[in-house]
Amino acid sequence: MSLIVLCAGGHARVVIEALRSRCMRPAAVVDRDTTLVGGLVSGVPITGPDEDVLKMSVGQVELVNGLGNRASRADSGLSGRRELFGRFAALGYRFPVISHVSATIASDATLGDGAQVMAGAVVQPAARLGRNVLVNTRAVVEHDCIVGDHTHVAPGAVLCGGVSIGEGAHIGAGAVILGRLSVGAGAVVAAGAVVARNVGAGAFAGGDRIGSR
Ligand SMILES: CC(C)(COP(=O)(O)OP(=O)(O)OC[C@H]1O[C@@H](n2cnc3c(N)ncnc32)[C@H](O)[C@@H]1OP(=O)(O)O)[C@@H](O)C(=O)NCCC(=O)NCCS
Repeated sequence: MSLIVLCAGGHARVVIEALRSRCMRPAAVVDRDTTLVGGLVSGVPITGPDEDVLKMSVGQVELVNGLGNRASRADSGLSGRRELFGRFAALGYRFPVISHVSATIASDATLGDGAQVMAGAVVQPAARLGRNVLVNTRAVVEHDCIVGDHTHVAPGAVLCGGVSIGEGAHIGAGAVILGRLSVGAGAVVAAGAVVARNVGAGAFAGGDRIGSR
């Protein structure tokens, strides 16, 4: 079974590193930007556009989502990552769960297809991660948390026990969500925010400017 990474950006390098930590080597990277074809991502060849995947049957290849996101106050920026996963999953292609060897995942945590747990991250007992969820470098998902499909828990963010996050939300780097709170679908939590109240769907939380120009 070959592994192919979708998208040749910065997150692709992070997932390739996670795969290598488990002695897995992707065969290729594909990217919609055909000018990149012939190049390398962390030593892995960029062999063609996304559609090249379709030359292989669903039984021959597994896919890894290498597309990251850039959140803004207005938008989680996750639609591209979500669309890429959805397009190929709908055709029957499988996205395995991937985790860096240094990640800690409780034995009774559940992870949906394509969930990614990066270096140093911790997923604690009875946590439930949806499909295509990204728990990024050194993030913490405490016991009994529920994380909806496509959500990104960015580097160093902490979800305290029993937190519930909807689909497609961005929890910014280093943010802390206090226990048992909920963050709605598509919401954006700023990097470094401390969330002490529920956050509604599509809402923005945090981002108070500190310092002066
Ligand atoms: C809050 C955030 C979503 C705002 O993004 P944006 O809408 O593009 O806004 P900008 O970056 O243009 O910043 C707008 C203002 O907010 C300030 N600001 C941005 N992020 C901030 C934060 N996390 N906390 C406090 N202030 C912040 C900026 O300094 C700027 O201030 P100014 O208007 O006085 O110049 C973004 O900065 C953020 O925190 N994203 C999460 C980053 C992350 O998790 N990355 C992980 C990648 S792996």
